[in-house]
Amino acid sequence: MKRVVDTSITPDDPAFSEDLIAWQKQHGRHQLPWQKTCDAYRIWLSEIMLQQTQVTTVIPYYHRFLQQFPTVRALAAAPVDQVMSLWAGLGYYTRARNLHRCAQAIVQQHGGVFPADVKSLAALPGIGLSTAAAIAAFAYGTRAAILDGNVKRVLCRVFGVEGFPGQLAVERQLWQLAASLLPEGDIEAYTQGLMDLGATVCTRTRPRCDACPMQARCVANETNRTSELPMRRPKKATPEKRSVMLWVTFEDELLLEQRPPIGIWGGLQSLPELERLGGNPEAADWFVEARAALADIGEIAELSVLPEFLHAFTHFRLRVTPLKITLARRYLMAAQDSYHWRAINALESAALPAPVRKLLQG
Ligand code: ADE
Repeated sequence: MKRVVDTSITPDDPAFSEDLIAWQKQHGRHQLPWQKTCDAYRIWLSEIMLQQTQVTTVIPYYHRFLQQFPTVRALAAAPVDQVMSLWAGLGYYTRARNLHRCAQAIVQQHGGVFPADVKSLAALPGIGLSTAAAIAAFAYGTRAAILDGNVKRVLCRVFGVEGFPGQLAVERQLWQLAASLLPEGDIEAYTQGLMDLGATVCTRTRPRCDACPMQARCVANETNRTSELPMRRPKKATPEKRSVMLWVTFEDELLLEQRPPIGIWGGLQSLPELERLGGNPEAADWFVEARAALADIGEIAELSVLPEFLHAFTHFRLRVTPLKITLARRYLMAAQDSYHWRAINALESAALPAPVRKLLQG
């Protein structure tokens, strides 16, 4: 059979599916309630519930649903409110609305029988391509590739697929890879094996590589990159904010600002910032700006512009231009003002932000 897959990642490894199937039969899960049936309705119900919810949470809901709605016709005929209340607690409630709509579509458009091909299944409400493939494989033995989050992780690691899987080009590559790995037969054990491996061995954190049937061929294991693969979403460029800080002294005292409790450096004492004093940090003439900003505080004797520095916060970087200013005289400040003078030799005990302390200490 001709393989239609990007040759750069085509696994030269036809034994992948054989090893996975053998592992699934010996070490995989066999007692999950939806594994005891070929009823497409039951399999569909379990797959929808398992889309965003863990197995242990799903099991009691799965049983309650089947007790209340033993067939797809019973579910389709129920009022949507009854479906919603039975779903309550599982989360992602769009799933419940789509579940009901899908049941009605099965009854009205498919004579109450779930179709066996991926395309028809994926055209129904709430059924994406991967869920469609899982239903088709488990209920009808259809040879179709699944690709949920767990499977993406397994494939990225075993075959060393680079790039963020949420990116369209990477996802396409993964679909091709998933299709190229499909066995000719035993599709149920193979599909369950992929799910089991992702859920129980090739976990997101602390994978159990020693227990993995793919260990010998796994690129991530071989290159020590299980924590890097699959690659994470690329970071957005960190935004940058600017600040002009006024390092103002008069004789042996330094002007400090008590920062408001909320926001960066909340509650700390820092250097006054030009923009907080009503000045423009993009100004052309620092002297003019600083003189206006300090009009109520004192009269400038001397001003020098110090080299700017960067300080990294979690979500942005602050680019700081410090202006070193000595005053010729100072005015009385109101007691409630957030600005105050502090002796330079008593700065040790001041609650200064680290980059400010570093600046002051040179
Ligand atoms: N997650 C999605 N489908 C599953 C299934 N059939 N068994 C276990 N976990 C699953």
